[in-house]
Amino acid sequence: MFVATKIRIFCYLRSVILSGKELSDRLKAGMAREVATFPSRYGRVPHLAVLLVGDDPASVTYVRNKARASEKIGIRNTTITLPATTSEDELLGRIAALNDDPDVDGILVQLPLPPHIDELKAIKAIAREKDVDGFHPENVAALWRRRTEPEENPQYCVPCTPRGIIRLIKEAGVRIEGRRAVVIGRSNIVGLPISKLLLNENATVTICHSRTVGLGEITREADILVVAIGDPEFIKGDMVKEGAVVIDVGINRRPDGTLCGDVDFKEVAPRASVITPVPGGVGPMTICMLMENTIDCFINRENSKLER
Ligand code: GUN
Repeated sequence: MFVATKIRIFCYLRSVILSGKELSDRLKAGMAREVATFPSRYGRVPHLAVLLVGDDPASVTYVRNKARASEKIGIRNTTITLPATTSEDELLGRIAALNDDPDVDGILVQLPLPPHIDELKAIKAIAREKDVDGFHPENVAALWRRRTEPEENPQYCVPCTPRGIIRLIKEAGVRIEGRRAVVIGRSNIVGLPISKLLLNENATVTICHSRTVGLGEITREADILVVAIGDPEFIKGDMVKEGAVVIDVGINRRPDGTLCGDVDFKEVAPRASVITPVPGGVGPMTICMLMENTIDCFINRENSKLER
């Protein structure tokens, strides 16, 4: 028993806990320095407009955090809060006005929307060049068509959470090329785009979901395991290969109010070579990448003014 405990502690210490908080703080400090040069270079700063419909508590928190991050970096933020009863036409009208506003560089419609509003209609209404989420069908198509690194092609935004995951993995010095990546979850926001980004990095990618048969057999093959299913502590130690890189996208609230991911951190961390914590892992990177996407949209719009 004693020996087993010692081995367990040794293994635990061997795994690297990848702090998205630390990396995002560093990146945001760099962005703040860059944005400080914009008034003299461009005569203005980037402007992000966020639309929130309803008062879903998680969405309210996310939107507040986006405003705070913008403020810290020097990005102008306009948050428009609308009641849950807002009609689809009213929302589409608000989006159209932001599209037409030359001072707005990025538009984000916080999801999910109330059920009476067609989410895809709202996303399609956003001007493609202001789509900081990268959710517009044309931007999604650009991601799936593109074979090169997304950073090489800054005209279109890549969804924030997947972009943040790739940044984190690279920052940790993890080799992606040629490795087996398993993504659990097939959402438009995380599962699908992270799968394509890993493919762009020449990983061999398997996408699993709620109907996958023999999930554990597949996850145990993963050199890189990305979990985005929204099921608290679902991934247990015996589902993970020794030495795997484990990226936990889940943010769940336990009955006692504390946060946890989709990965059982206590069980999995001793087996992983690299693992992201919850909170403080992927979450802060999502907001950080939203800031980068906003700056990218701003610079693209300013450059296109010069070309005209
Ligand atoms: N809801 C949860 N994640 C996201 C996101 O990345 N963007 C938007 N717009 N809504 C979300």
